[in-house]
Amino acid sequence: MGATLVFMIEIRQLDGNDVWAQMEGLAGVLVDCVEGGASVNFMQGYSLDEATLFFESVADAVDRGERLAFAAIEGEEVLGTVQVIVKMPPNQPHRGEVTKLLVRRAARGRGVAQRLMEEAETAARVAGKSVLTLDTASDTAERLYARMGWNRVGAIPEFCLLPDGTPCATTIFWKAI
Ligand SMILES: CC(C)(COP(=O)(O)OP(=O)(O)OC[C@H]1O[C@@H](n2cnc3c(N)ncnc32)[C@H](O)[C@@H]1OP(=O)(O)O)[C@@H](O)C(=O)NCCC(=O)NCCS
Repeated sequence: MGATLVFMIEIRQLDGNDVWAQMEGLAGVLVDCVEGGASVNFMQGYSLDEATLFFESVADAVDRGERLAFAAIEGEEVLGTVQVIVKMPPNQPHRGEVTKLLVRRAARGRGVAQRLMEEAETAARVAGKSVLTLDTASDTAERLYARMGWNRVGAIPEFCLLPDGTPCATTIFWKAI
């Protein structure tokens, strides 16, 4: 009988070097989400090379202290990721913005996004933030944010496009932390 390896899902805060070390997995999660039709800034055909360039810029921003980055890792595999933009204009030093909450399709429905958000909120508070904002075009994400105590401001119709070019609404949320 063969042995079965069981890995725990670990939520890790990443420094710039960690982002580089996990580059392939992070870029893979982003490409998988765009392929799955998620409205996360990018359009159909988004490639692994483009996603790698995106996460290289994230590594630089983390190094400069402008963003916090997190990954959910099981064994060697990156299952999901989220970032908090902490560099804000001088009149909003207390605000952070959650962005790119992404979980690979095969890993959804296991609480990965909730754990990433818990970690991101805690780290944002430690970084001195007292209010977080975000926008989303995902119904699943909307339910998650509502469960986690986020306040729904409202939806802006035709705010952006789905990867296939269809216009879609975006909903704004905020949370005092
Ligand atoms: C939105 C997104 C991040 C959610 O990720 P996820 O890891 O599947 O989220 P969770 O597992 O925490 O919650 C998803 C569902 O699984 C359920 N769930 C969580 N743990 C579970 C478990 N152990 N057993 C059964 N169900 C579970 C949750 O209750 C939730 O149910 P609901 O959809 O009926 O409300 C993911 O769908 C995604 O990456 N979408 C594409 C990118 C995107 O649009 N991101 C949002 C940008 S703001």
